[in-house]
Amino acid sequence: MLKHLAGERVAEVTHREYGYMLRLNLERLMLSLGNSLERLRMAGLTGGGETVVDMFAGVGQFSIPVAVLATPRKIFSVEINPEAYRYLVLNTRLNRVEDIVEPILGDCREVVEERLQGVADRVIMGYLMGTMEALPQALKTLRRDVGGVIHFHELVRRSEEEGFVEELLGRVESEGYEARLLRWRKVKSYSRTRNHIVVDFLAVRGG
Ligand SMILES: C[S@@+](CC[C@H](N)C(=O)[O-])C[C@H]1O[C@@H](n2cnc3c(N)ncnc32)[C@H](O)[C@@H]1O
Repeated sequence: MLKHLAGERVAEVTHREYGYMLRLNLERLMLSLGNSLERLRMAGLTGGGETVVDMFAGVGQFSIPVAVLATPRKIFSVEINPEAYRYLVLNTRLNRVEDIVEPILGDCREVVEERLQGVADRVIMGYLMGTMEALPQALKTLRRDVGGVIHFHELVRRSEEEGFVEELLGRVESEGYEARLLRWRKVKSYSRTRNHIVVDFLAVRGG
């Protein structure tokens, strides 16, 4: 929640970092500076020629850095909020990555079911407080033959991270996939009791 204290009231800002820019209305949408290293890390992990599905794309917080700094073939960027989607389209143009990023307006769970099954080498689930609800669709969007990597974000009570990771991998297996943990890391401290963490794991459909 932002409160204007003094000076000119500027709602729309253009944030620049690591060679890309993100424009948004800060009074209505979110951009966490605490996630900036994670944005850079995503770009560093994405391999050449990959297809990426960004399920909770926002204004392009992950899609844009990956498109600008890495060499993916395609990024499908799904966003449900029309205002965030409008900025996602704008940021795609501002950063000149229209040939890589395809913004899609809609609920990622429906969009995957309808048109993105079996396409992804990598899935970014940059959402907090309920990411698990979209896990079945994240798995369905992975390539059927070799599977792929999922980056799963969530808020977890401090010191309960290991238990959460175990539970998450158990859920993946109960969906009929083999899961291998690559790593998990703390993105930032979120509140007095909770951390924002990201879990990277490989998932492949079980035989
Ligand atoms: C907390 S923001 C995070 C944006 C970006 N992924 C990041 O981590 O910086 C989450 C975004 O997911 C969008 N969202 C929430 N539920 C969604 C859904 N079911 N399908 C697509 N987008 C959704 C919200 O509108 C919001 O823009």
